[in-house]
Amino acid sequence: MGLNVIVLAAGEGRRMRSRGPKVLVDLAGRTLLQHVLDRAALLGADRVRVVVGHGADAVRAAVPQGVETVLQPEQRGTGDAVASALGGLNANDTTLVLYGDVPLPQRATLEALVEAAHRTDLSLLTVNVDHPAGYGRIVRDANGNVSRIVEERDAGPEERALTEINTGLLAMRTGPLARHVAALDRDNAQGEYYLTDVIGRVASAGGTIAAVQPDHEWEVRGVNSRTQLAALERTWQAWLAEELMAAGVSVRDPGRIDIRGNLHAECDTTIDVGCVFEGDVRLGAGVRIGAHCVLRDTTVADDAVIEPHSVLQGAEIGRGCSVGPFARLRPGSRLREAAKVGNFVETKNTDLGAGSKINHLSYVGDTEVGPKSNIGAGVITCNYDGYRKHRTVIGERAFIGSDCQLVAPVTIGDGATVGAGTTLTSDAPPERLTVGRARQRTIEGWTRPADRDAGPDDKSSE
Ligand code: UD1
Ligand code: MG
Repeated sequence: MGLNVIVLAAGEGRRMRSRGPKVLVDLAGRTLLQHVLDRAALLGADRVRVVVGHGADAVRAAVPQGVETVLQPEQRGTGDAVASALGGLNANDTTLVLYGDVPLPQRATLEALVEAAHRTDLSLLTVNVDHPAGYGRIVRDANGNVSRIVEERDAGPEERALTEINTGLLAMRTGPLARHVAALDRDNAQGEYYLTDVIGRVASAGGTIAAVQPDHEWEVRGVNSRTQLAALERTWQAWLAEELMAAGVSVRDPGRIDIRGNLHAECDTTIDVGCVFEGDVRLGAGVRIGAHCVLRDTTVADDAVIEPHSVLQGAEIGRGCSVGPFARLRPGSRLREAAKVGNFVETKNTDLGAGSKINHLSYVGDTEVGPKSNIGAGVITCNYDGYRKHRTVIGERAFIGSDCQLVAPVTIGDGATVGAGTTLTSDAPPERLTVGRARQRTIEGWTRPADRDAGPDDKSSE
């Protein structure tokens, strides 16, 4: 028996006050819709269909391959949205309905919902809340079975007092679901086709209904406004921090971490406050990440230290390395074991050998450095001639004095020393000192112009 997932995403989301459709706003580095689609993928759904309407073109453009979209030309209610998406689906498959603006239902919850649909006629995800205002309420009969859902605007005072609410997520066999949504009317306060009326229809036909509850209330929270978006972001981040701590990672303040992608970290790693992790980041064991670092698509091996305010993107940091504070590692930066990149250093597409150091104020790009070399303060690789990028190759045990410009393409041999202030335009041979700078002179008998005119006692120029 197959599984279809229908994601309702045709609504306008006016309270978000966005130029685009609400399902495309970002939560933890992904759009709301992408969160939902990722979860559908985890369930191994055979078909995933997104119902689009408001901002249809933008939503379509954001939908990955393998996911279908169906247009609901007019937003006539959730029942109409589902009806528009069922065409051509196998009647014996199960259909799971998700909302594009309810991004975080967890896999176990959705699996329980689908599983319950296999043994009943319909399964619903419900939750008990302190403040049910705005939601559809679950009405149960004398035996405690779900008999119908009443929308807030259609509810009387007794029904409004009910605290078990409809999350909107449900699962049902596709054939009966299609029959029921086709028979819906819009005879209600909002003049809409309510998907929720299907529940009453199944119950009055004597069908069985399961009400499944999520482990956490936040799994079913919808996002309608920027305030709700920010609140759900913090809740989700706290949950991710909790998972890290359970895996043996010290998070200095679980309220001050942001994981906008996938962060994998091993035990005894410490993350100080204000760090942001984007894309796929892997941290080994015993790693220390200082305050206010940003790491994107980066790997850090065991016992390396990233000092505060460093920004790493597409970097690979070896075991025991030290980076920062205030370092910027751009894509293709690879630091071998125990290498060091210090403050105000930028690297790009650079392979830094084991134990080698670039300690201060440098730009090193398109460069290969052997082990145990030292690059002095202020060294710049001139890798770009305005047209092409060129490589710099530095051997092992090389020593580049401060404030050199290495005009690529250029090679510095093993054990070579380049004198401070050299503008290196051709190769520096191994094991030799190469210096390229104007020879220093001291001019005897020279005086300053002011001193010449006024003589030694005039202080007016000071
Ligand atoms: C719906 C439920 C309510 C539940 C609540 C949970 C109905 C009638 N009511 O109410 O019981 O407590 O969700 O949040 O289902 N959408 C479309 N096309 C439409 C209308 C809506 O795609 O024509 C989409 C929206 O984009 C949204 C979702 O369906 O993602 C829910 O629609 P919304 O209008 O927010 O329903 P509620 O009134 O909140
Ligand atoms: Mg809603």
